[in-house]
Amino acid sequence: MKRLLALTAVAALTLPFPPAVADAPGGQSPADAPGAPGLADSSGAQSGADAPGAQSAADSPGAQGAGDPYFPAQGNGGYDARHYDLALDYDPGTRVLKGTATISAHSTQTLTRFNLDLVRSLTVASVAVDGTKARFTRQADELVVTPAAAIAKGKAFRVVVAYRGKPTHLVDPDGSKEGWVRTPDGVFNANEPQGAKTWYPGNHHMTDKARYRFAVTVPNGRVAVANGELVSRNTTMGRTTYVWTAKEPMASYLTTVSIGAFKLTDTKVGGLRTIVAVDPAQAAAAKRLVRRHGPVLAYFSGLFGPYPFSVTGAIVDNAPEVGYALETQTRPIYPNNPDDALLAHELAHQWFGNAVTPERWQDIWLNEGFATYAEWLWADKRGATRLSAAFANAYGRPADDAFWKTPPADPGGAKKLFDDAVYSRGAMTLHALRKKVGDKVFFTILRTWVSDHKYGNAATADFVALSEKVSGEQLDAFFTAWLVKPVKPAL
Ligand code: TRP
Ligand code: ZN
Repeated sequence: MKRLLALTAVAALTLPFPPAVADAPGGQSPADAPGAPGLADSSGAQSGADAPGAQSAADSPGAQGAGDPYFPAQGNGGYDARHYDLALDYDPGTRVLKGTATISAHSTQTLTRFNLDLVRSLTVASVAVDGTKARFTRQADELVVTPAAAIAKGKAFRVVVAYRGKPTHLVDPDGSKEGWVRTPDGVFNANEPQGAKTWYPGNHHMTDKARYRFAVTVPNGRVAVANGELVSRNTTMGRTTYVWTAKEPMASYLTTVSIGAFKLTDTKVGGLRTIVAVDPAQAAAAKRLVRRHGPVLAYFSGLFGPYPFSVTGAIVDNAPEVGYALETQTRPIYPNNPDDALLAHELAHQWFGNAVTPERWQDIWLNEGFATYAEWLWADKRGATRLSAAFANAYGRPADDAFWKTPPADPGGAKKLFDDAVYSRGAMTLHALRKKVGDKVFFTILRTWVSDHKYGNAATADFVALSEKVSGEQLDAFFTAWLVKPVKPAL
């Protein structure tokens, strides 16, 4: 499901948005576009000593990053990961993770070597490509693989990485904890934007979606919860292996393998399989959680189109120090029992963020602005807060408030990824659009957005183009005022 970032850059030039891929300080041109050997060579991932045989004229390494201006090293070029089979064994007592990742991929260029994203603190025992042992080196958070023979362009190939270690979380530029966040009974595992590399190797930019199978072995008394459907649970010698499959394409920041002394329920709500894992400390509070999914999903399906996945649910952990929830695909993870607004927010992300995923991190308002607007819609529907009041409350910030200095379409870097403006001004943008084009056109735009890009990626420029197409109106000035200018838009 990979779409080259090059498409975004081209589209951006035709619209009033800054061509951010080219302009961003430290940004790179789309690194995995074929024919960018100079850039790929600059990875410095290999010393001459490592693979002298590969330093020929035919050297054709995959780029070390997908070229995202906010996280340049994230993701990799030269191939498209299609399926991950993650066989993991974790003991919360020793904190040791033993993993075997089997990655099925397609090459998009000749590959004499390629990279996977994986933190250096995990030890790699072996790498095989199509059953043959491959050489590998480590460079920062990159695992650099040199297969015994070059992989031709357009070929399916399979990589098996055996690794182990004691995973730890990382701290993002905005100060939040993510990745493998340990809890007293296991792990709270949330991976937006870059936590996936703390626990498995992969192509971790969101433009490379894939399907997944997780087989996770934990000691008795612990439960391992992942995305998708629970397909089996087998206990031998005091340990249980939980197998989960995620059938629909997923960006790796939306994966989760969370572990705890969870109570699992597996029921149907409105015909949809609903699997919920609850930490015992949250059990009383979360009692009604399963049933609260039905009305929210029914309402959103009516507005946005059918729920895009085959299963739903929640992971309700007891991890107050984390301080945020995440819309992990099919099964959002919460640090405690969610209130109605948060439940609606994370479920709305299943359409906006998960089914349709941004092409680069600066487009994050396409996730957060939409989920916040959906939160407002649900609060209005259930009679808690009128939509007009939610908008007025957000818009009421005085014009000289620093809030208005952050433009949602480019909040200014990794540090400001989850800035207030991304959420609140993003949601206001949608409400203002609705006022401008009318309810019928507005919801047609939202439904078409999901159906056009389901399981893929799209950028702000695509949303502007779609809005203009469906409404028949010229909306450049409107979107520039709401998304690009660092000043409060007039109504
Ligand atoms: N995507 C989360 C949401 O549903 C927010 C999120 C992820 C976040 N990581 C974060 C917010 C770190 C603050 C800090 O809104
Ligand atoms: Zn969100």
